[in-house]
Amino acid sequence: MPLILQECVEEDADQIAEVLYAAFAEDVWGRIMFPQRPPPDVDTPTKRHYRRLISSEPSVFLVKAVDTETHQMVGVARWELNLKTKSDAEWDAKMAREWDEGTNTTATDFLIASVVEKDREFMGATPHLLGLGLLYVHPDHQRKGAGRMLAEWGLDMADKKAIPCWLQATPQGAGLYRKLGFEDVGNMDIDMSNFGGKGVYRYVCMIRPTKDS
Ligand SMILES: CC(C)(COP(=O)(O)OP(=O)(O)OC[C@H]1O[C@@H](n2cnc3c(N)ncnc32)[C@H](O)[C@@H]1OP(=O)(O)O)[C@@H](O)C(=O)NCCC(=O)NCCS
Repeated sequence: MPLILQECVEEDADQIAEVLYAAFAEDVWGRIMFPQRPPPDVDTPTKRHYRRLISSEPSVFLVKAVDTETHQMVGVARWELNLKTKSDAEWDAKMAREWDEGTNTTATDFLIASVVEKDREFMGATPHLLGLGLLYVHPDHQRKGAGRMLAEWGLDMADKKAIPCWLQATPQGAGLYRKLGFEDVGNMDIDMSNFGGKGVYRYVCMIRPTKDS
């Protein structure tokens, strides 16, 4: 299964959404937020969101890992270059998302607000920074190197620009990022009982310092 990386184009939006749903289908928090998966042939707010990011957000880089034998998209990373301090309106705009039918909007809005608050705490003060917003690999293709390739794409960019990287890792992602030089700098805990689940879901806040620092 040789893999290549390519920047996404607008026509990839449907596949990006399908791989997203598949990747988080077994995640406990993903199951709460997305109890139902929209039918693949429906044009959803998530697909429109990705089309907009690809067509009109030059600071956002959506990269896909493609299996060269099947031409299937197996994973996606969303990197964002933060070269200037965002205004309050720009931070608020990050929280205003329209969700697909069947989404638990209370849970999902809560997560986005919590993630944006942490992004703001860390990235707001350090505008020259590359943020990894999302990284996911289809379950049929995990543990075969796609996640590492997609992460290294952004790390190469960060090294060329001599800037640090920032992310909030799911429990599944944290191990990979530690291997790639990210350091734990905090946590974001979600009490799952507030959303009909059990226990605490911990996101790990991580920074990979500038290589020369
Ligand atoms: C996390 C995820 C992206 C990893 O992708 P992947 O393609 O399976 O990862 P890779 O095969 O490239 O693995 C890269 C390295 O990370 C390690 N790794 C991968 N998954 C891991 C896990 N769950 N726990 C610990 N280490 C892990 C691998 O052992 C590998 O190490 P090596 O290169 O030294 O052998 C994938 O499991 C996923 O999509 N999970 C669901 C969505 C998610 O939680 N994404 C993270 C959002 S922050």
